Amino acid sequence: MLKLKEELQVSNTWSPESWKSHEARHLPHYEDAAELAEAEATLAAYPPLVFAGEARALKSDLADVANGKAFLLQGGDCAESFAEFHPNNIRDTFRVLLQMAVVMTFASKHPVVKVGRMAGQFAKPRSAPTETKDGMTLPSYFGDNINGIEFDPVQRRNDPGRMVRAYSQAAATLNLLRAFAGGGYANLRQVHQWTLEFMGRTPWADKFSATADRIGEALDFMEACGIDPATVPQLQGTSFYTSHEGLLLPYEEALARQDSLTGEWYATSAHMLWIGDRTRFPGSAHIEFARGIGNPLGMKCGPSLEPDALIELLDQLNPAREAGRITLISRFGHDKVEDGLPKLIRAVEREGHPVVWSCDPMHGNVIKAESGFKTRPFDRILSEVKGFFAVHRAEGTHPGGIHIEMTGQDVTECVGGAVAITDERLGDRYHTHCDPRLNAEQSLELAFLLAEMLNDEIGERKADAA
Ligand code: PEP
Ligand code: CO
Repeated sequence: MLKLKEELQVSNTWSPESWKSHEARHLPHYEDAAELAEAEATLAAYPPLVFAGEARALKSDLADVANGKAFLLQGGDCAESFAEFHPNNIRDTFRVLLQMAVVMTFASKHPVVKVGRMAGQFAKPRSAPTETKDGMTLPSYFGDNINGIEFDPVQRRNDPGRMVRAYSQAAATLNLLRAFAGGGYANLRQVHQWTLEFMGRTPWADKFSATADRIGEALDFMEACGIDPATVPQLQGTSFYTSHEGLLLPYEEALARQDSLTGEWYATSAHMLWIGDRTRFPGSAHIEFARGIGNPLGMKCGPSLEPDALIELLDQLNPAREAGRITLISRFGHDKVEDGLPKLIRAVEREGHPVVWSCDPMHGNVIKAESGFKTRPFDRILSEVKGFFAVHRAEGTHPGGIHIEMTGQDVTECVGGAVAITDERLGDRYHTHCDPRLNAEQSLELAFLLAEMLNDEIGERKADAA
């Protein structure tokens, strides 16, 4: 009896390193323990990137999403890289996210919570631990904070020093994002102007410019009333949060800090961390780490997740059933969402877990194009989003958010869209370090379609209430 009690106490004790006694998948093996310890000690002495209070502010915004009063827009690179680290890239991705948010806010008349897959999204789970080319076998590429993408033995070595470089890049990225969000760049008039420029280039220009005209009229009206967007804080700036997959646990552990106000532990590498589809099994080291930190958490839900396992995970991650704590990011694939999602929603509703339901229409829709490139057809992405909205409509739950891999750059990685990217053109500007991303135009096109769906959803809800 005593032994059982002791064991229970042990399993209930969380510490930033308690994940080490759990099964860890997709973590790199570092050959030199001293080198790893040195990198961890360096990070542990560095300042936190975010404050606990900011993570709580995001949790509170997400609670509004869980309660059907707001929408979540989460997006950015599949994998940030050292090579693509440039202020223009950060600016362009931020700008497209802002444009998307404006379009969606205007249509839904509900706030859009903006969270970047930025300033820390480096580590990647890979399907195979090694890669073979021309008879040579090397470790796979796991993300720039672990090893290099070039296929050579030196680059592919797992190097703990890369975590320190990733921290610096994340800090500089976050600094610029904070400056953009609060320093005037996010002025609503300006964001609208950029959106107008996009209208001219799409075949759907007429339809989209109707929305843009209405946004413009609203701004003109406000200005006529004496409200200058340049002087109203809510119009001049915006709140913008950061997130990444909490995959590389040595990095996350080194940046975990105890909040001096509440005594609670927080991951300070980003406002929000999510757990990937391949590491969210019950008993996993990633779940163990996540359950002890106070940040809002995301969890990917793919076709292999059974309702009972989901409930077990929710009980562990959110025993207090706090709204805003958990965002469930479904990623079934365009042909599986309508079959797979309802049973998860029903289990969560039955158990009374308050969650944000978000749709990742990217990771279940990867195909290999004839040209050999990994791609995602834009029509499948849209079809999964539509399926997600339809399921929530049928279940009476709120389709709360979208999670996408996108960039502000003019890349050619996903086929389709109004300005059609064809299979033959994939090679033109295929720059991703991992999965194919939506380019700026495809992202905005998705935003306009989301705006329509959100508008319908809100309209139907109002009609139901009347
Ligand atoms: C990702 O978001 O980049 C990812 C790897 O997704 P998933 O865990 O859903 O496969
Ligand atoms: Co990805």
